[in-house]
Amino acid sequence: MRLMILMSFLACGVAFANQVKTEEIYRMHCAACHGASFEGGQGGSLVDGEWKHGSSDEDITRSIAKGKPEFGMIPWEGVLTPEQIRGLVIFLREKEKQALAKGVEFPVPAADKVVKTKLHDYRIETLVSEGLKNPWAIAFLPDGRKLVTEKSGRLRIVSADGKLDPVAIEGLPEVIEHGQGGLLEVALHPDFSKNGWVYLGLSDGTRGDGGVLCTTAVVRGRIKDHRWTDQEWIYRPDEKFRSSSGVHFGTRFVFADGYIYFVIGERGGMMEAQDLSRPSGKVFRLHDDGRVPADNPFVANKEAIAGIWSYGHRNPQGLAMDPRDGSLYDTEHGPRGGDELNLILPGRNYGWPVVTYGMNYDGTPMVANTEKEGIERPLTYWVPSIAVCGLDFYAGEKFPKWKNDLLAGALAQQEVRRIRIVDRKVVEQEIILKNIGRVRDVAAGPDGLVYVVLNQPDRIVRLLPAGE
Ligand code: HEC
Repeated sequence: MRLMILMSFLACGVAFANQVKTEEIYRMHCAACHGASFEGGQGGSLVDGEWKHGSSDEDITRSIAKGKPEFGMIPWEGVLTPEQIRGLVIFLREKEKQALAKGVEFPVPAADKVVKTKLHDYRIETLVSEGLKNPWAIAFLPDGRKLVTEKSGRLRIVSADGKLDPVAIEGLPEVIEHGQGGLLEVALHPDFSKNGWVYLGLSDGTRGDGGVLCTTAVVRGRIKDHRWTDQEWIYRPDEKFRSSSGVHFGTRFVFADGYIYFVIGERGGMMEAQDLSRPSGKVFRLHDDGRVPADNPFVANKEAIAGIWSYGHRNPQGLAMDPRDGSLYDTEHGPRGGDELNLILPGRNYGWPVVTYGMNYDGTPMVANTEKEGIERPLTYWVPSIAVCGLDFYAGEKFPKWKNDLLAGALAQQEVRRIRIVDRKVVEQEIILKNIGRVRDVAAGPDGLVYVVLNQPDRIVRLLPAGE
């Protein structure tokens, strides 16, 4: 009995300790020697990019946990919880990144300027500069026109030469714009020129007296004379899964071999991502008409939703398939720190919220561990977070040296990254565009140009080879 009281007392102490903000811990325990502004003192600067005792997360964790007693730095394990030490590593990474970014030149495009990157130089052209509000995704019609979603629920058409049709498509299903939710993804069926199917990912539900209740859903239809027709729901979760949460809707589609893959975010439900009986926090695979494939990984599990392909996702907003080998990748938003690029394999658990590389937004730590048996590790992760959004493989001819590289957008860091994947591993990363707005979607057009959908300011730009 006494032991149990002692144990629950200790557990309480740990839970309490983990509610202290990491910057507070730094100020209390570290600033005296490493400087209030991280400039260093008795201990060195922790943000100058130089690490005497190793620069990996593991090395820094060890430096903090084991200390450097011979130089006067005590071992902090025992004093701080493992979660707090992990929180400090994330915190120091954020500060290091901010410090190192000062004075660095990024490829910031401007009109009439050639932007130099490692493999290609490009010019930027603004395709649509006005009239769009919160554009979310872009899809390319065979005749050169583009379909663009706006979060409020409008589907717009942009002509081949960039004119925005003032009239939106009429008769779309009702979209519940709520927080981060609304009309999100748009994509064409690969046989669109034969069957005319347009797929939309949206927030579906009700807006009643009791407030909003919604889920992410997938629908398809055809567009005839500016009207949405022939509508069919591809995946419309049961009403019992609707929630009032305004965060983490996911979406993004990939089509391959008669299947549609799509993602649903965990809607702030955290542990729901681990619950196979709920749609939130999952990657799905269905036949392109919504039927469940008989060989999906959880069809034999009576508790599980049969459309689920993988689970343990937080908020994926990038999904793309490697044209070389058909491997599926997602990018997903972590909490503060811990954005991920994952190789998506059927039936696998991607860990949220059991393990993560991030911490809570308020600066309190989350978990000490970044890996666990039975949980897939990301191919790469970003601490601090870049807020990954939009993902596509470049398969065009206009930028031949980028062929088969992944292009990943980022909202908070306002960038497009080029990520080279060889044998399903990340071998190179380069920022090819920075600081012209929050990147909501990035897509390689059938014309070989790279299209970027931006928020704040809301517009669509494209990258042209410098010579064109
Ligand atoms: C009493 C002074 C003191 C305090 C307090 C202190 N440190 Fe240190 N720290 C040092 C010294 C001295 C070194 C070793 C510097 C060297 O090797 O030249 C060091 C080294 C480190 C290193 C390794 C740096 C490298 O270059 O590899 C890290 C990381 C670190 N401290 C983090 C922390 C954190 C986080 C805290 C607070 C929890 C903290 N320290 C508190 C004095 C201190």
